[in-house]
Amino acid sequence: MNYIILAWLFSLVYAESSPRLKFTVEEPTRFHFVKPEHYMTLYLQEGGDVLYVGGQSMIYMLTFTDKGVKDTQIPVPADENAKEACLSESQSQTECDNFITVMQKVSDTFVVCGTNAGTPKCWQLVNDTVLTDVANEQMTPSDISSPFPSQRSVSLSTDGSLYSALSAAGSQPGSIRRTFGSRKLLKTENKWLHNPQFVGAAMIPGSRKHKEEIYFFFSEFNKTAVVDEEPYRARIGRVCMVDEGGVKNMLADSWTTFLKARVMCGMGNIPRQYNNLRQAFALTAQERRMGIIYGLFSNAWDTTVVCAYSIEDIDKAFSTSKLKGYSNSLTGHRPGTCVLKNVTSSLNTKTLAVIKDHPEIEDVVRPVGEAPLSLPTDDHFTQTAADTVLAVNDEHYSVLYLGTEKGKVLKILHTIEEAFIISQYTLFHSEGPITAMAIDSQGGHLYVSQATEIQRLPLADCSRYGDTCRECVLSRDPYCGWDPAKKKCTPIPAGYNISTGAIFQSLDQSNTSVCGEATALKVHSTSPKEVVVDSDGPVLLPCPVRSYHATYGWEKDNCIKRYPCSITGGSCVLAPTPDLPLKEGVFRCMSLENGYKEEVVSYRLVFNGGPLPSSFASTLAPSLLLAAATLWLM
Ligand SMILES: *[C@@H]1O[C@H](CO)[C@@H](O)[C@H](O)[C@H]1NC(C)=O
Ligand SMILES: *[C@@H]1O[C@H](CO)[C@@H](O)[C@H](O)[C@H]1NC(C)=O
Ligand SMILES: *[C@@H]1O[C@H](CO)[C@@H](O)[C@H](O)[C@H]1NC(C)=O
Ligand SMILES: *[C@@H]1O[C@H](CO)[C@@H](O)[C@H](O)[C@H]1NC(C)=O
Ligand SMILES: *[C@@H]1O[C@H](CO)[C@@H](O)[C@H](O)[C@H]1NC(C)=O
Repeated sequence: MNYIILAWLFSLVYAESSPRLKFTVEEPTRFHFVKPEHYMTLYLQEGGDVLYVGGQSMIYMLTFTDKGVKDTQIPVPADENAKEACLSESQSQTECDNFITVMQKVSDTFVVCGTNAGTPKCWQLVNDTVLTDVANEQMTPSDISSPFPSQRSVSLSTDGSLYSALSAAGSQPGSIRRTFGSRKLLKTENKWLHNPQFVGAAMIPGSRKHKEEIYFFFSEFNKTAVVDEEPYRARIGRVCMVDEGGVKNMLADSWTTFLKARVMCGMGNIPRQYNNLRQAFALTAQERRMGIIYGLFSNAWDTTVVCAYSIEDIDKAFSTSKLKGYSNSLTGHRPGTCVLKNVTSSLNTKTLAVIKDHPEIEDVVRPVGEAPLSLPTDDHFTQTAADTVLAVNDEHYSVLYLGTEKGKVLKILHTIEEAFIISQYTLFHSEGPITAMAIDSQGGHLYVSQATEIQRLPLADCSRYGDTCRECVLSRDPYCGWDPAKKKCTPIPAGYNISTGAIFQSLDQSNTSVCGEATALKVHSTSPKEVVVDSDGPVLLPCPVRSYHATYGWEKDNCIKRYPCSITGGSCVLAPTPDLPLKEGVFRCMSLENGYKEEVVSYRLVFNGGPLPSSFASTLAPSLLLAAATLWLM
């Protein structure tokens, strides 16, 4: 037997929590800002093609098509007086301009607010072209927009009302308010919030209309905390949409349903917790119990992690926990539950007094799985967005998108068991942080921005996964499945019928058995390209790495000899060793994933007697050489 049995010399690129696939997007559906926009507010209407971007003294109306982006720019300058006053006071000078902080459609009014150089101002955008004053004189711009862009404000429009949360800064304590619309305008009491920094808000549907709530996500910062004490506390605060305020002498213009809870993100009870909530995204469904909230947290070392919370758990905490500092029994109406105002027990002054002095529940909210999601620790996350997808098995799956400090976007399938990173997108030419993301589930797009550029990505980006059933199914992307009739990896059509449809997916684990035997691979599936080389010159045979969860290796002459390969960039390059010098013959690059071996490329190596015309290459650096080889061979 002249078989040389070597151990599998497969090169391992696999890491437990690394992205399986890496894509670089070059398509032109992007818009470049003339000047960098360091603070951005995005607004989009589900299912549309227009994205409104609020920037510095400018609203950009961007119409996306597959061919490119059409833009209309509406200047919104700061008042000259306000700007002068701002510049003369020694504020951060760069913030003395009109930064658009709020863009919301409230019933038929498109409300736009900006910082207006320290004295916030609001307009309404009419016919997508003209900014006019808002007719309703009730509106107080300083309750809706912060005076400076670095002080975050959060806004949410639902059911004809605008809800606004302002972060604390300087002497401003921060607040949660209803600021515009048909319902009574309400606010938080100052003592309910300790230096809040808001990061998000969401409407949470209820089992019945009057049970609807607004959740606010924020961190509280304790200015007087001692050095080795954690100054941040992550919070969820909530109010009922039916809240109409208290009685004449008690909480007359304040919420009567406000309650807040501490949110933990870390392993069990160990002290290493992530307390600074930086971003939040709520995924809600018609049935609220299916809802999930993703929070992006950081710790004192600025390491970022993501924790997921079930809305059911949060509900349970709010409806059963003791109130902090209150030990008497709660008789009658429980603080924080949503009831219509005509239910008199909700408004007796005794209950209101309890509400006024006890805004916090004692129970803390813990993440699903009692730990942060398992994600690459060297990525610093800056943005989150998420979507629920109805898969072909009629189950809903959560897909999470994370933007990083280096301009990448991770697409993650999140199930109860794990966080599987479907892919990593490189969308921008520079490495700057992702500054904003907006998701349009209905229209099937994700909008992603850096300071200088914004672009959109299809949620069902199925054509990137390759043209075999196996590749499509291994992607574990709930938006995509293998259509055996069309022999294509396709988006799941709207209204897909589980009993009549025939699209293959395998989401809970990578199982390609759905693809059946017919698609099982032939042993040699590629035809070797001939490569003529100098017998003692360098040879670099590249093999494109598609899956970073696979292992790669080279085989020669029908598996008799196995050569290792070394990963360089997106390629696994044949690396002969002194023990295994190159010989003429057929070299096949094989990938191994999920116990399944597949041929990626093959070459027939033929030695040339004389020097190669391209032998100059031997004097080049290996990376250049590889690039040259790749161009030459691919
Ligand atoms: C908006 O468009 C309508 C109908 O075209 C027109 O009547 C109205 O004057 C426009 N409003 C403004 C402020 O331009
Ligand atoms: C802030 O920290 C100080 C020092 O530990 C503590 O006395 C105070 O109660 C804290 N404030 C809040 C609101 O937690
Ligand atoms: C309260 O008002 C709602 C409608 O506003 C009505 O449906 C309900 O019956 C009333 N409840 C009581 C106890 O009067
Ligand atoms: C799916 O197709 C079956 C068979 O044609 C039909 O009976 C069923 O109503 C369909 N289901 C849905 C949700 O359309
Ligand atoms: C894959 O799915 C098939 C059919 O559903 C099943 O028989 C098989 O055990 C699964 N394989 C793995 C590794 O789970």
